[in-house]
Amino acid sequence: ESKIYTEQYCPQYHFSPPEKWMNDPNGLVYNNGLYHLFYQYYPEDIVWGPMHWGHAVSHDMVYWKHKPIALYPDEHGLIFSGSAVVDKNNTSGFGVDGKEPLVAVFTYHLMEGEKAGRNDFQTQGIAYSLDNGDTWTKYDGNPVIDNKGIRDFRDPKVFWHDKTQSWILVLVAGDHAKFYTSKDLKKWRYLSEFGKYRGAHGGVWECPDLFPLKVEGTDKEKWVLIISINPGAPNGGSETQYFIGDFDGITFTSTQKKQKWLDYGTDNYAGVTYNNTPDGKRIFIGWMSNWDYARNTPTKKWRSAMTIPRELLLKKIEDDYVLASMPLAEINTLATAVLEKFKVASGNSDTLNVKDLNQSKITFTTASRDFKLIFSNDLKETLVLAMNFKNNGFIVDRMKSGDTGFQSEFGNKKHFVPIKEFTNEFFDVNILLDWSSIEIFLDNGIYSITEQIFPTEPFNQLIIENSDYQAEIENGEIQFMKSVW
Ligand code: FRU
Repeated sequence: ESKIYTEQYCPQYHFSPPEKWMNDPNGLVYNNGLYHLFYQYYPEDIVWGPMHWGHAVSHDMVYWKHKPIALYPDEHGLIFSGSAVVDKNNTSGFGVDGKEPLVAVFTYHLMEGEKAGRNDFQTQGIAYSLDNGDTWTKYDGNPVIDNKGIRDFRDPKVFWHDKTQSWILVLVAGDHAKFYTSKDLKKWRYLSEFGKYRGAHGGVWECPDLFPLKVEGTDKEKWVLIISINPGAPNGGSETQYFIGDFDGITFTSTQKKQKWLDYGTDNYAGVTYNNTPDGKRIFIGWMSNWDYARNTPTKKWRSAMTIPRELLLKKIEDDYVLASMPLAEINTLATAVLEKFKVASGNSDTLNVKDLNQSKITFTTASRDFKLIFSNDLKETLVLAMNFKNNGFIVDRMKSGDTGFQSEFGNKKHFVPIKEFTNEFFDVNILLDWSSIEIFLDNGIYSITEQIFPTEPFNQLIIENSDYQAEIENGEIQFMKSVW
């Protein structure tokens, strides 16, 4: 397996397909010792094409094992995004001999219907597995949710709702989300909708997710509705927004006024969370790309990777709720050798020459409101991260970071993250670099910024400038991240 993970730009500790095109994560579910990761997959090419569900499994979300394709297109259409649940009480009746069925709920996309100019070409279907995801049988009563003429009608997320003892399904219909309920995963009843005129609407709504989360440090629970939108992201193209509110089993309500973004970078899209995690944690995985240029990134045998799995945390800051994300703790087990340690006094800078910088984790603690990190290689390709309070924000400048010319949208501007003040006076900065991506976590995960980069030679130098005259950069450490392939 390791041979195929040696291509230029290939991530070494992020999930990517062994070959060919991948987009959204699908069917994230834990069952019987295994975390499943299904994904939008086109096995014939490195550009988007007729969609299948690719499949991988893991015991820890750190090391993955590739499995055969789980779902193939059929007479109802291509297999678009969706989710999966463990049907513990065999409500569907798919289970035999006491085996708990794993049930996938996905969108069928009928190409012919779309080509014919019809509006009802997307419907929802289900399939089940009795061997923990190895083999799948499509339900012969598909589609389970028919389409009455809605053009965009897709990406069902299903979960078990304890209070009403029923399954809830949320899908998106262009500019809003629709909620449905079922007792058996087969017959669905429409409940309500949310979202017209709420939040960002620069593009079509995609890949919803809905789940409860405890407000950190309290017993209070709020509901989080995640919605990806394409285009219309603050830094261009596709990104993921969220709403904090309440869900009573019928309607989702929210008093939120502001638009909220789950990630401020350009490359975290279509992300959703795991069902049925054993420890109750809310684990999120996103597709590390952007529809603006996803089809043209400079790789040859495979295309695109997933974000590192992240734990989502709900924080109450003053009178507002914020969805924070941090890399899954288990990922830290990959950080082995210390490549460099650093400390930068106020008004100072430090130049570090680091081998293996391209596959590393960088952490430091700071109260600095004015610092810059400049990554570079011998070709003088540079990636600049700049925290600057005078400009009210954080900047990622990948304009000269290597191969940026494959499509104009990739390197045409600096990306801006509005930050007025950090919540924590001191906080840990956490950065994960993996050959063609960087993930930055600021202010204990309140800001996460995910970006693809394609330095044509590995970065081997890091300059850290601390221009804040009152605060130091401390406990700096660069660690090598082991390859998982
Ligand atoms: C999001 C998306 C989904 C759709 C899938 C098709 O990236 O457009 O809405 O189901 O990709 O591959």
